[in-house]
Amino acid sequence: MRSTAIILAAGSGKRFSAKKKKQFVELFDKPLLYYSLKAFSESNTDDIIVVTSKDDIDFVREDIVKKYGFSKVKSIVAGGDERYDSVYNGLKEATGDICLIHDSARAMISVELINRCIEETVKYRAVVPAVTPKDTIRVRDGEFGGETIDRNTLCIIQTPQCFDIALIKSAFERLYKTDYKTLGITDDAMVVEKFTDTKVRLIEGDYKNIKVTTPEDIVIAKAFLDAGNFL
Ligand code: CTP
Ligand code: MG
Repeated sequence: MRSTAIILAAGSGKRFSAKKKKQFVELFDKPLLYYSLKAFSESNTDDIIVVTSKDDIDFVREDIVKKYGFSKVKSIVAGGDERYDSVYNGLKEATGDICLIHDSARAMISVELINRCIEETVKYRAVVPAVTPKDTIRVRDGEFGGETIDRNTLCIIQTPQCFDIALIKSAFERLYKTDYKTLGITDDAMVVEKFTDTKVRLIEGDYKNIKVTTPEDIVIAKAFLDAGNFL
């Protein structure tokens, strides 16, 4: 059973609104992308594909992959306008039996979760980590509060999202034959559910596996990284 991880680092970080793209912001002297590459390198993943903007390919190759000796990285490919375009570009290079698609913005990914994802994907073919929200969540009714949803029926979806490679490739091939821009695709599990009959298995995620999205998240990321097991 061979697995390939696609590490996504081609976003522009609009919500992070900093001069530097969030995947390259340095924490403890290393760019955020370094931490995902380190975790996947130490996991049972066989190969890694990094997806980044065309203009950042040289930087990623020289200043991250070569500098830190991430030898599992087989290719660095250019991303696209939307996250799903970047995934599709990565998928074209992916080989093996299982594919793990990961947001580099989730720098606190653990080796344990990656390995558990691989094991579960052998059984279920489509697996995503999820955690239960800690806050009360409502549906908004304009400027007033609408219905409160029982949080035990909700989950926050994380990455890596993991799939049988033939399954995810065929789902994306079908996606691109449709009017895909109108579908509101925000993750890979949605593509598999829309275009195949396979149900997506939810497994226990990790509250530390947050996505650095807005500036204050960097403070939390720093604290988690400092707390251990990641450095
Ligand atoms: N991503 C990507 N290609 C894109 C968009 C996103 O590879 N066209 C990656 C990001 O680099 C990130 C992950 O997908 O690691 C999750 O996306 P998100 O957190 O939304 O990052 P950005 O799109 O960069 O941020 P924003 O939506 O605020 O602009
Ligand atoms: Mg985005």
